[in-house]
Amino acid sequence: MNSIEQLVSQAQADFLNAADAAALENAKAKYLGRVGQITELMKGLGKLVPDERKTQGAVINAAKTRIEKELNARRNALTDALMQERLNAEAIDVSLPGRGRGMGGMHPIMRSWERVEEIFRSIGFDIADGPEIETDWTNFTALNSPENHPARSMQDTFYIDGNDTEGKPLLLRTHTSPMQVRYARMHAPPIKVIAPGRTYRVDSDATHSPMFHQIEGLWIAENISFADLKGVYLNFVKAFFETDDLRVRFRPSYFPFTEPSAEIDIAFGSGPLKGRWLEVSGSGQVHPTVVRNMGLDPEKFIGFAFGSGLERLTMLRYGINDLRLFYEGDLRFLKQFN
Ligand code: FA5
Ligand code: MG
Repeated sequence: MNSIEQLVSQAQADFLNAADAAALENAKAKYLGRVGQITELMKGLGKLVPDERKTQGAVINAAKTRIEKELNARRNALTDALMQERLNAEAIDVSLPGRGRGMGGMHPIMRSWERVEEIFRSIGFDIADGPEIETDWTNFTALNSPENHPARSMQDTFYIDGNDTEGKPLLLRTHTSPMQVRYARMHAPPIKVIAPGRTYRVDSDATHSPMFHQIEGLWIAENISFADLKGVYLNFVKAFFETDDLRVRFRPSYFPFTEPSAEIDIAFGSGPLKGRWLEVSGSGQVHPTVVRNMGLDPEKFIGFAFGSGLERLTMLRYGINDLRLFYEGDLRFLKQFN
């Protein structure tokens, strides 16, 4: 085999050995590059006599053409292999059964939340929401519970790091009542609103959880009385429980922000606690001091407020005896509502 022939088969072998495009370009440079072996042979032609130059030139050109052909063949082979590899990696077996995605469902508390909003919206109440991190003033002072007032300990409070602008510690709201003052200061009477949301207290047993939901209701105008509270609330619970056959009682109570005040209890109509009373709400006629803190004249404006527990309403609706079931995440329990 002459040396040109050897060069061609050497190039072929090098190309075949190149495992990827980069290695192949390196191998190419060895033969066809600026200082490659074929290029060097071409340069040598100048030294030959014209006749020899012609025959040798033809031989070298033929070798160059063959090397280029080998190079292209290997290039295509590498590209094809790469494509095949990708196709294999991305292959979809259309015959496999689908994995499916579990259907989510609505939590029973959220179901009640939406229901309550719908009922109050239908009788002209606005719906508002507000911050879960509150200041001492909105959660207590504006609601007529001054510092050191014993009523503050009626609700065991979670305080958090950080102070408000008065230097008082911030807290997780213990009820939705701060929304009374927040909303009233931003809207002109008549004020007719519910404010549902999360609330927090250091509390835990079958009827109390540290995080729970309340719905604040507030109706302030020039002539809204305690009788309106009873009428509105009774209509609400009849719509909520979808029955007129309910045992509801207003039990005299005390809140610093209402006078007179009442707790509202409803008796279980089903479930293991059937017949037992459960407190669902605090309520009352808004205290004149609170009306003043709303920026309104208590001689002119009067009305009622209530704050109802959404978990309690839901317990009564489904006959559930332990509120902690709502928050244990047990699908066997939760699936019953969907
Ligand atoms: C209040 O929170 C008053 N802000 C309610 C109010 C509003 C009175 C407006 C007057 C005017 P009370 O602490 O009773 O009141 O709570 C109201 C309701 O929230 C209770 O009846 C109960 O249904 C629910 N509740 C209270 N604490 C918890 C708790 N830890 N877990 C679940 N529900 C609770
Ligand atoms: Mg109470």
